Amino acid sequence: MKQELKNNPSVNSSRRNWLKSVGLGAGAVALTACVDSSVKELSAAGMKTDHFPSATPNVSDGLVRLSSNENAFGPSAKAVDAMQGELFNLARYSDATVDVLKSKIAAQEGVSEDQIIVTNGSSPILFGYADWITKNGNKLVTSMATYEGVPRGAEFMGADVTYVPLDADMNFDLDAIEAAVTEDTTAVYICNPNNPTGTVVDAAKLTAFAKRVSKKAQVFIDEAYIEMSDAYPANVQSKLVAEGHDVVICRTFSKIHAMAGQRLGYAILPAEQAKQLGGMLRMGGVNYLALVAGMASMEDHANLNTMRSRVKVEREKLTAAAESLGQAYAKNPQGNFIYMDTGMPHDEFAKLMKAQGIKVVGRTWPGYDTWSRISVGIPEETDACVKALKTVLA
Ligand SMILES: Cc1ncc(COP(=O)(O)O)c(C=O)c1O
Repeated sequence: MKQELKNNPSVNSSRRNWLKSVGLGAGAVALTACVDSSVKELSAAGMKTDHFPSATPNVSDGLVRLSSNENAFGPSAKAVDAMQGELFNLARYSDATVDVLKSKIAAQEGVSEDQIIVTNGSSPILFGYADWITKNGNKLVTSMATYEGVPRGAEFMGADVTYVPLDADMNFDLDAIEAAVTEDTTAVYICNPNNPTGTVVDAAKLTAFAKRVSKKAQVFIDEAYIEMSDAYPANVQSKLVAEGHDVVICRTFSKIHAMAGQRLGYAILPAEQAKQLGGMLRMGGVNYLALVAGMASMEDHANLNTMRSRVKVEREKLTAAAESLGQAYAKNPQGNFIYMDTGMPHDEFAKLMKAQGIKVVGRTWPGYDTWSRISVGIPEETDACVKALKTVLA
């Protein structure tokens, strides 16, 4: 079965069809050839490529999709192999396997298994946490220009959310956030690296901040992109939970593990709250193949290290383009995206990029109307994006 899938002609032909549709007009053929050569290179480096592209393979709108911070390099070959080996093993609920993943996370992060919850992607955790805020004082403090999962969810459910401006470096202003926290505050949401700015806060400063602030309000740190940051694992804050501070760490397999379509995420949090939130968010269990793939990917350190470097190379192409075009951007981004001032309304920019065959995020964040977030792709996708930027912003 494993072999049949690997050689499945329909998988390969759908990939070829997609490749043909990448790029618009005359550029399509050239880009297709480039993408093919990149696939060969990835394959020579031992990475599995016959599933390429990993993101929305059935959506053929002809656009290079740099809009959702997906990891276009695709998952670890070991994760794909592990799933193929389990395709007939889907009859049972996955709770026992969730426990195996928890024990691996516990060993890696130095926490106990009862401090971990596992869900289908991390979004359910963010939304469940927003609900938890409304039932525990109803007040959230966070930053402007950050990921909306928790703040928007909390607002939607009627919570009072304070948005503190970014600092002069477009980073979380931890001092101003601390000043905004009162005895009434339920929680503080920190995204590190931050989406959309990509900035990372100094690890020692964040540790000290979390230790102080968590005495008043719980500190939720969303580490969705942490493994992509240059200083990983020094930036990781899970030790705070191990030490008993009132802190939640949230992670996903959608980013460096390139499993956005498979759905797997987890949180590390105080045991009592894990029991409460975990019970609610379990929602009938977790996708078994995601668990199998996630565990294989976690252990594939070589793949994760390669991924970190590949993402960095692509990210630096985008920051170099912003520099050469003289566009302001949030400096030193550490995820798989950059946030740039395009000098025009973001929806206008998205339309012009689309005409060049590139899909960028079609929204922006309040206060940053002319800014746009652009994700990295595989080399030829990022190169096509740089070319489009030069046309649109010339
Ligand atoms: C900062 C951050 N947190 C969480 C998520 C949610 O990801 P998922 O539900 O795929 O785990 C995202 C997705 O883009 C994100 O950028």
